[in-house]
Amino acid sequence: MSPTYEKTSTSPVNIAVIKYWGKRDTALILPTNSSLSVTLSQEHLRSKTTIRASPDFEKTRLWLNGVEETDLTKNKRLQNCLRETRRLREEHEKKLCKEIGTENVVPLSKYNVHICSENNFPTAAGLASSASGFACLVYTLAQLYELPVSTTELSKIARQGSGSACRSLFGGFVAWEMGSQVDGSDSQAIQIAPKDYWPELEALICVVSDAKKGTSSTEGMQNTFTTSPLLQHRIKHVVPERMKSMTEAILKRDFQQFAEITMRDSNQFHAVCLDTFPPIFYLNDVSRAIIRVITEYNTCSESGKLKAAYTFDAGPNAVIYTLRENVPEIINIIAKFFPGDVENGKEYFTDPYQLFSGSIIGTKTLPQGFNEQIIPVHAPGSVKQILHTKVGDGPQELTGETDSLLNEHGWPK
Ligand code: DP6
Repeated sequence: MSPTYEKTSTSPVNIAVIKYWGKRDTALILPTNSSLSVTLSQEHLRSKTTIRASPDFEKTRLWLNGVEETDLTKNKRLQNCLRETRRLREEHEKKLCKEIGTENVVPLSKYNVHICSENNFPTAAGLASSASGFACLVYTLAQLYELPVSTTELSKIARQGSGSACRSLFGGFVAWEMGSQVDGSDSQAIQIAPKDYWPELEALICVVSDAKKGTSSTEGMQNTFTTSPLLQHRIKHVVPERMKSMTEAILKRDFQQFAEITMRDSNQFHAVCLDTFPPIFYLNDVSRAIIRVITEYNTCSESGKLKAAYTFDAGPNAVIYTLRENVPEIINIIAKFFPGDVENGKEYFTDPYQLFSGSIIGTKTLPQGFNEQIIPVHAPGSVKQILHTKVGDGPQELTGETDSLLNEHGWPK
C-alpha cells in the first residue's frame, strides 16, 4: 500500500450582520454588494472534513453526512474548489521540483481524493451548512496540498463553492469585500477583528419549525437580482455606508450601533425578498413574533439602550446577538413565549454554559415594563431549540489519532 496523505479539519458557521444577496457573476460567485459576518464557535456548530489523496484511488469520491454523492461531475461548485486548489498544488510542485528535485516531490495534484464530511448539527434544524462545508473543504485541501498561500487567497476559492463560505475561513468578525475585477481576483474575505476582540458579544439561535422547504439562497437571490428595483437601491445607496458603520461599531465595540445596523440590514434583506417578483418569504409567523418580542425587550430597556439584535437568513430561524449580561433574561423571555415541546424537553435548551444551574427556564417574571400583550404564548415546539453560542475561531486542523473520518483503506469509518 502507498503511504497515506491525509488531513482532517473543522470549520465554523458564520451569520451575516450585513447580508450578501445578489450575484453579478453566477459562475465565479461574485456578489453585488460587500457583506460582513460574525463567526460562531465550533463547540456547537461546525463542519468536519477528512480528505485523503492516493494513487490507489480509482476516482474522486465524496461522502456528505454518511451519504455518497454519486455523480461529482454535476457538482460544479465542488469542481471549482478542487480545480483551483489542484492548480495551486501543481504550481507548488513545479517550484518544489526545481528546489529539491522531482524524485522528492509527491505528485498529489495528480491523485484522486476521498472526501468525507459531516456536520455536528442536524440538517433538519435548517441551519445553513454550505458555508462551513465549503470552507472546510478548501481549508482541508490547502492543508493536504501544503499550499503556501494566505487565508484571504483561499477565501477566493471557497467563495466559488458558496459565496458565504469565504467568510468562514476566518474567526471573529469578517468582511467579504465584493471587489470590482471581472475575474474575481479582488472579491475576498478579510478579518476585521479576531475572536477575542469583543468577548462579551454572544449569540442565541432560535430554531423555528418550518414544514415547507423554502427557496434556496442561490435561486432566491438570482430572482431578486433580476426583478427587484429595491435591491438596486440597497446595493448602490445603503450597503456601502453600512459596511463602514458596522466595521466602526465592531472596532469600537459599540453594541448600540452594531445592533441597530444588524436589525435594519436583516429587515432590508427580507424587504428585497418581498420586492422580488414573485415574492419570496423566508420569515414565518413565529419569526415575526420573535421580532416583536426583541423589539419590546429593547423598548422597555431601563437604560433606553438596545440590548438585543435579531437577524434572519434565508429561513425562519432567528439569530439573536446580545451582550453576555443579557443572555439569561433573553432565554427566559423566549422560553416564556415559545415554550419547548414537552416530549422534546431535553433538546430545547441544553444550557452549555450552565447559566441556569438546574432552575427551570421561562418561569422568571418578565422585565419591568415589558408588555405581555404584544404576542400570545405560542404552541409548545414553535421554537424547537435555543442554542447558546459565542464568537469563534476560523478553521482548525485536527491531528489526533481518532480524528479521521476515514478508515485505514480510505473509506468512511
Ligand atoms: C441569506 O452563500 O448560501 O445567508 O453563494 O449561492 O451559495 P450561494 O449563496 P449562500 O447565500 C447566503 C445568503 C444569506 C446571507 C449571508 O450569509 O450573507
